[in-house]
Order: sequence, then structure tokens, then C-alpha cells
Amino acid sequence: MEWFTFQPSVGLEPETQALFAEEIPVQQLASQYGTPLYVYSRKALEVSYQAYHKAMAEWPHLICYAVKANSNLAVLNVLARLGAGFDIVSVGELERVLAAGGDPAKVVFSGVAKQRHEIRRALEVGVHCFNIESEQELERIQEEALAMDKIASISLRVNPDVDAQTHPYISTGLKDNKFGIDINRAPAVYARAAELSHIEVVGVDCHIGSQLTTTEPFLDALDRLLLLMDQLKDRGIHLKHLDIGGGLGVQYQDETIPSPADYLVSVKQRLVEQGYGDVMLVVEPGRSIAAQAGIMLTRVELIKPTEQKNFAIVDGAMNDLLRPSIYSAWHTIVNTVVHSDVDSHVYDIVGPVCESGDFLGKERNLAIREGDLLAVYSAGAYGFVMSSNYNTRNRAAEIMVDGTESYVIRRRETVEEQFASESLLP
Ligand code: LLP
Repeated sequence: MEWFTFQPSVGLEPETQALFAEEIPVQQLASQYGTPLYVYSRKALEVSYQAYHKAMAEWPHLICYAVKANSNLAVLNVLARLGAGFDIVSVGELERVLAAGGDPAKVVFSGVAKQRHEIRRALEVGVHCFNIESEQELERIQEEALAMDKIASISLRVNPDVDAQTHPYISTGLKDNKFGIDINRAPAVYARAAELSHIEVVGVDCHIGSQLTTTEPFLDALDRLLLLMDQLKDRGIHLKHLDIGGGLGVQYQDETIPSPADYLVSVKQRLVEQGYGDVMLVVEPGRSIAAQAGIMLTRVELIKPTEQKNFAIVDGAMNDLLRPSIYSAWHTIVNTVVHSDVDSHVYDIVGPVCESGDFLGKERNLAIREGDLLAVYSAGAYGFVMSSNYNTRNRAAEIMVDGTESYVIRRRETVEEQFASESLLP
């Protein structure tokens, strides 16, 4: 969380340490824009993107940021300006990339069931390739490309059957997951693809899961992909690119995570060893680019001690940040001001939504009082994008900080906006 740091705060009485986003005290952002509030650091986004870029500088590569992790137009635009490509899973994400100034020729289109209208739009704007997840989808893309008289570049997303050793909901590379084409079946599907008139086979792809904390599962999957590429070569099918997906984790609590550089050094080494030193490398990182570039600010509404527990009820809830509720995910929570005169206690940090699953953190030791502003860390990825209007709560605002400047990149929703698409019976 390099760009969110505690610094001596001027203007607060008594003078104390307070949390800053780049060069702005977050207290100031909360007073100006209200809470709950997502705050992103432009610098953090850029630095994490550059980490991938530097790690592959000498190698032909394409970094396709996984739009689903944080799809705000300003976030996409910051990355597009650096030359990023994008991994999309819907036509909505494609329109976002285009609206944010992204280059469609650097887009890979993933997803288990692309609809015909989505395929047509992708062909119209000319995406880099479709990551195909089934034989049925291959035929569907051929039909649409034929009808539009376009050639569809494709890559097969293979399911290498490796255990990513992550949360079961975000593990995708096992045989019993819905994703990809069984690697043993892949040669036959490639052979079929090679026969189709409006399909050009360009690559192979896999994505085995998210929040991986070691490189072994990635390298196991890579080895299986390289074996497949050997088999295909023997049959005269030469692939131009190898897409190893996303999935590199981040430190939410005390995990140790390999850096993109460490990870990619091992990948490149395998490629050279196996005679694939010239293959274009595609990666689809989402979390490792966006997670640490964002925090969520939330205000303590009430402190409620009960016989069993102390609850700190805050104005942010599971509808704003769902990860703790559905994956039991840990996000570090801090008070944004360091109090010297408040005792610390163990609290469950909960929201106002009517569910016991509505919590942001459990059993956190914090020195807090009512009205304090808390920061939930590592909220830049799979944070706002998974938010909802549950309990008719307006979705939070999103702010991007750039040095001493802050910009509203999504204003807070209003109840009128929530109602705008609903209507009464006549
Ligand atoms: N490529 C594909 C095909 C994917 O399905 C995903 C993520 C990515 C790339 C990016 O993976 P990343 O680098 O972000 O790990 N909502 C969950 C995460 C779901 C990930 C889904 N797929 C969470 O909050 O942990």
C-alpha cells in the first residue's frame, strides 16, 4: 500500500499521524466527497502496470488488464495511456474499453458463453482474439464471422486441470470447473478450428484461478500448455501467442506473494528451455494491478457494545464491498487518524445492511470512536465493481488521486437514479 501512507498531519488538533492518499489527507477527501468512498491512486495503478511491462520489456508481449477487476472508465483510461491491452468478458466491458480510449486490437475476449451480438460487435471493432471456451462457441464464432465476411482470430482457453490452491469460488483450472476446453480434447478442437473458413488460429490460453500466492501452479499449467504446443506443432499448427491468464495474488494480510518480475522470470526461463523463445506472451492481470491502488473509506456511525461483542457499525456495507461476505476475505482496516487518547478494543466492523453476513472485518483491534473515518485496504480490485443497490443503498462515489489533485471519476448515486429505470403498473 505504498501510495497510502501515514504522515504527520497538519491542521488536525492535536497534530497527529493521519492517512494520506498520495499527497492528500484522506480525511479531506471524505469531507469533500462523503462516505463510503472509493479512493484510487493513479501512481499506484501506473507502477503496478509498469511492473509487468518492465518484467517483459525484452520479450514480445501484450498486457491485457482484466477489466472486471475495476472497470471505471478513468482507471481504464490511465492504463490505456500506458499502452495497455484489455481482457474483457462482455460487450459491456468492450464498450468501456473503447470509451476509455483503449485499442480494440489489443483486446482479448474471454468468457464461457459469448452471445452472438457480442461476437458481432467484437468482430466489427476488430479485437486481437477470442479466447474460446467450448467447441460449440467455436462453431458459433465461425458462423458469425462468415456472415460478416470477417476472419476471427482465436485462441483456445484450455483447462489444464491444475489446482490453483486458492478459494474454491475463484479457482478455475480444475476439471470440474465450467471453464475452458479439456486439454486432452484440445488437439481435436484445434484441428477442427484449422478447417474452418473464417477462423484463424493464433494462440492458446489458460487462466487457472485468482489470488494465487505461489508460482508453482502457474508453472505446472505452463508446462502442460507447452506440451500441447509441441503436439500441435507436430500436426502443423503453429501458435503465435501464449496467454497465461491472470491470477497473481496480492498481500491482503500476511501472505507473501511473488512479484510480477519473479513470476515472469520463471515463465520466460521455461519458454526458452522449451524452444519457445519467440512466442508472444499475453498476460491478463486484474487484481495485481488494481487491488493495492484503492481503499474504501467508511465512517463509524455507532459503537455498539453487546454482552458478546463490540460492534463498530460503519456506513459502508456488503453492498459496497462484498468480498468479506462471500469469500470470508480479509481486508486490513485502519483508523485514518492515530488517537493517543482512545483505548483500543476488539470490534467486528459491520455495515447497516440487514444480514449477519454484512461485515467488512471481524475481531479487529482498533482505537476508534464514533465519527471516525476508517480505511479498508486493498479495495481497488473487485471492490466497487461488485457493489450493488441491496437495501436500496446508493452506490459509493469513486475518486482518483493524482499527486495533490483529486478527481471524481464516478459521482455518488442518488435514489432518483436508482428509481429511474423502474416504473409502476398502469
Ligand atoms: N482472466 C480471466 C479469464 C479471468 O477470469 C480473470 C478473473 C482474470 C483474467 C483476472 O484475474 P486476476 O489477475 O484478477 O486474479 N471476485 C473475485 C475474483 C474473481 C476473478 C475472476 N476472474 C474476488 O474478489 O476475489
